[in-house]
Formats: sequence, C-alpha cells, structure tokens
Amino acid sequence: MKKDLILAIETSCDETAVAILREGHELLSNIVYSQIEVHQQFGGVVPEVASRIHVEKITEVIFEALEVADVTMEDISAIGVTQGPGLIGALHVGLQAAKALAWYYEIPLIGVHHIAGHIYANELVEPLSYPLVALVVSGGHSELVLMKEENQFEVIAQTGDDAIGEAYDKVARVMDAGYPGGPVIDKMAKLGKPHYELAKVKPHQPDQFSFSGLKSSVIQAIAREEKKGLSINKEDMAFAFQERALDQILEKTKEVIEDISPKHVVIAGGVAANSRLRERIQELLSHYPEIKLTIPPMKYCTDNAAMIAVAASISWKYNKPSDLSISAQSVLDLAVF
Ligand code: KG4
Ligand code: ZN
Repeated sequence: MKKDLILAIETSCDETAVAILREGHELLSNIVYSQIEVHQQFGGVVPEVASRIHVEKITEVIFEALEVADVTMEDISAIGVTQGPGLIGALHVGLQAAKALAWYYEIPLIGVHHIAGHIYANELVEPLSYPLVALVVSGGHSELVLMKEENQFEVIAQTGDDAIGEAYDKVARVMDAGYPGGPVIDKMAKLGKPHYELAKVKPHQPDQFSFSGLKSSVIQAIAREEKKGLSINKEDMAFAFQERALDQILEKTKEVIEDISPKHVVIAGGVAANSRLRERIQELLSHYPEIKLTIPPMKYCTDNAAMIAVAASISWKYNKPSDLSISAQSVLDLAVF
C-alpha cells in the first residue's frame, strides 16, 4: 500500500546519501556513505573521484536505505533529490538515479535545493516557527536566510569570497593539520590560548561575509614566524582563527536578529557542527529569550539525505513535482527555488 513515503538522494559533494521519510517527519532510514578517507589522501575533495565513487555506491546505498526502512520501491510515493548547488558531476549521479526511479516506478520527482535541505534539517528536531532566520555555514556557503513563511527563502547576507568552511579547510591545510579542516581546527582551538592577533577583516559589502582576508592573515603570520626560523603554535593559531571567523558570523547574526525580530533562529550546514559556534550562538540567543533557537545534532549538520527528504516533503505541499528533464545545477538560486 502506498503511504506518504519519500525516498531522497543527496550526492552534491563527497557523501553518497539516501534516506526514507514517512509523513514528512518520521525518519525510517538515513544512510550516509562518506568518501572522506579517499579524499583525505588528496587534502581535499577531488570532484572527478567523488563522481566515480557516487556511481559505484549509489545503488548499494539505495538498497540499504530500503532494507533498513523495511520497505520496497513499490511503497515509495515520491523521490526527492538534490538538484544543486554542488559539484556538477557528483550531482548528476544522484539526479540520474532519482530520475530513473521516478520514471520506472511512475512516481513524482522533487528536485531540492541543497541549502533548503540544510535549513529544513531542523524540522527533524522540532517544528519551525516563522519568521525564521537561518545561519547557513558550510563548505560552500556562509549565508543568513530569512524565511517569512514556510517555502519562502530570502538570502539577506552571503559569501563574498571564501565560504567559512572553505576557510577552515584552507587554514588547516596551511598548518598541515589534515582534512577536513573544520573538525581538526575545532579540536585544536580547544587547546589554544589567546596569543596571536589576526586582522579583523571587514566584508566589502554590508550584506556579505568575507573570510579570504582572514585566511591570508593566518598565512602571513605563519610566514613571519618562519622567516625568524620559528614555527607557530598550531593550537593558538587555530584558536585565533576560529574566534575571528566566529566574531564575524555572530556580529552579522546579531544585527539581523535585531533588525528582523524573528520567532526562530536555526543553524545549518557542516560548520554548524562546530562546538564553539554552538556555544557562542547559544550565548547570543540567551539575550533574546523570546526567540526559539534550534541547534541540530551533528548528524543533521553535515551532508545527509534526511534533510533532502524533509525539504522534498515540504516542497511537494506547495510546488508541482519537477519535470523529468531537470538538470543538475552547480549554481542554483535559493530565493527563486
Ligand atoms: O555542509 P557540508 O557537509 O558540505 C557542504 O555542503 O559544503 O560542510 C562541510 C564543511 C567542511 O568545510 C568542514 O570542514 C566543515 O563543514 N565542518 C566543520 C566542522 N565539521 C565540519 N567546520 C568547523 N567545525 C566543525 N566541527
Ligand atoms: Zn552541505
């Protein structure tokens, strides 16, 4: 019997992920195959390698998601899939799999924006209230998104140069600390003390975030020490970088909260797993007791398909299913999605 069961696929970067969601909120399975060990050898995600591993893994992960959920493809009522933004070759693998399933089983296909997925991941924790402000911080994005209502997105501040996660990854790389940089710097910063003074970089535009200047400031500080024949204290540098990066994020978030007075603030994306960000946003929101704050568990911060299933289920309430001719898009506008 067909219930409201959505099978969702996420392959925008280096996770091959499939989830099955019942009635918009009951997660029956959430399988994530992480390629991280392969990309670690290269110090970052190699797009071509990511696509190839998605091709090798996608069928297996779909079968596993069905098995764990204890359903068959005949039970599935729609397919949700990340259409973009992301690595184009990687996105294509998930989208082709989704299209093939939708076509063969004659069920609707629902193309989803990856960032909408990250934001809606919070629905798996508690119902969202609107107007809502989402702080989206990931490897490809640093954004503040205003949702006046469900299914309406307005980007009010965005990445001007490097996204915050990208800056974490690059700074970790220049310090030879490993990949992905975010979790490594998070851990190292806990052992660091205030010692290095990094430049406080201001974005060029008031509605932008900027992290490339901060990254350069770390590189210059390392070069200065090397010139003197010294090496930096990595923990202290991780501490200095993280505090400066989060200063910018928190200052802008505070401005937006004061300006908009939302009912709900959520954080989303891989960098939302950062322990210091979680601590500092809680501290900030403690000054606004009337605003609800949701901090999703780690497993819903980094890329997963549960979030895509929730986004597909919400999109399906408001929008027509996607045409089978849709294509993967490396760049995709959230506001018009
Ligand atoms: O959302 P995500 O899994 O993929 C994208 O859509 O980009 O985010 C990945 C990013 C990487 O840059 C990674 O270094 C960062 O999230 N990240 C963290 C932490 N865990 C993952 N950054 C800071 N602290 C963490 N604990
Ligand atoms: Zn992501």
